[in-house]
Amino acid sequence: MATDGLIAVTGATGGLGGRVARRLAGRGVAQRLVVRDAARAPELDGAEVAEATYGDGEAMRRALDGVATMLLVSASEAADRVKLHTTAVDAAVAAGVERVVYTSFFGAAPDCTFTFGRDHWHTEQALAASGLRSTFLRDNLYIDFLPLLAGADGAIRGPGGAGRVAAVARDDIADAAVTVLLGDSGGGDGRGPAGDPAGGGDPGRRDGRGYDMTGPEALTLAEVAGELSRFAGRPITYQEETIEEAYASRASYGAPDWEVDGWVSTYTAIANGDLERVSGDLEALTGHPPMRLADFLAANPDSYRHLAGPPGPPAA
Ligand SMILES: NC(=O)c1ccc[n+]([C@@H]2O[C@H](COP(=O)([O-])OP(=O)(O)OC[C@H]3O[C@@H](n4cnc5c(N)ncnc54)[C@H](OP(=O)(O)O)[C@@H]3O)[C@@H](O)[C@H]2O)c1
Repeated sequence: MATDGLIAVTGATGGLGGRVARRLAGRGVAQRLVVRDAARAPELDGAEVAEATYGDGEAMRRALDGVATMLLVSASEAADRVKLHTTAVDAAVAAGVERVVYTSFFGAAPDCTFTFGRDHWHTEQALAASGLRSTFLRDNLYIDFLPLLAGADGAIRGPGGAGRVAAVARDDIADAAVTVLLGDSGGGDGRGPAGDPAGGGDPGRRDGRGYDMTGPEALTLAEVAGELSRFAGRPITYQEETIEEAYASRASYGAPDWEVDGWVSTYTAIANGDLERVSGDLEALTGHPPMRLADFLAANPDSYRHLAGPPGPPAA
């Protein structure tokens, strides 16, 4: 039986889950961190720790015993990621979990250009079929990773064309996740974004729907390079590759085909316009506007340190 309101946070050793866990602890919320290695779990007031990996259904069921609500952070990309996720979902059902908040992907579809996004659609389907009350946070590309698109030579290379990406900061997604996990009304009217059929005037009720987590602007990769140049203090460029060139330039990593497909399709999804739509969902949930790339870079100088320009404020 689920005890009153216990929240499980998976992926708490990672970037997104860790941010959510710290925010919950800061608000005095009891939580259980479900991690693969307890020694790496963050030490937080009011947090207990359970060890489990998504692929081990029995360990997940034990780790979720007594949990009412689970944040299911999608697993690191893997050939069998859908199976890992469905095993975790089945374990949640077996443990008596009532509600799941899942970190999905913007535009998740069975045939979306970004091949990793397909796993998220299948996981959403599994959650919808599970009978669990579910909410999907459909994250666009993380802003946090845009600086990493450029190598030390100062070039972003890929088949992204003139497409735009409405990248979003993990800090903003974490704020939204906390709102949904706690059933807060956020800064909005409690009904969620316009046309939200699940809003219904009940501030806590956000089940059975997806929220599009995007930043407030959609930038081309050339514009991303321009912002990085300004902050890094040296020219960063965007150099268009053909799809064939993109596969060839990534071949030396020796990664399996499914992984290279994911890397290259990040760019082709941008080129297609799949990632360009700006959504108001994040602000409706959190009550504050999401960060622009410039806001993120100003607050996180370590994110572009590898691009190594002279220190100091951004050039005009
Ligand atoms: N929107 C985007 O641009 C974007 C980019 C990259 C990734 N993602 C997705 O978003 C997720 C969260 O992002 P993040 O920045 O927090 O990633 P992250 O820092 O790599 O953290 C991933 C977390 O998930 C845990 N995890 C991974 N595979 C697992 C498994 N099979 N069973 C149990 N736990 C597992 C990791 O545990 P360990 O610490 O033990 O590894 C870690 O705590 C990623 O896992 C990935 O699915 C999205």
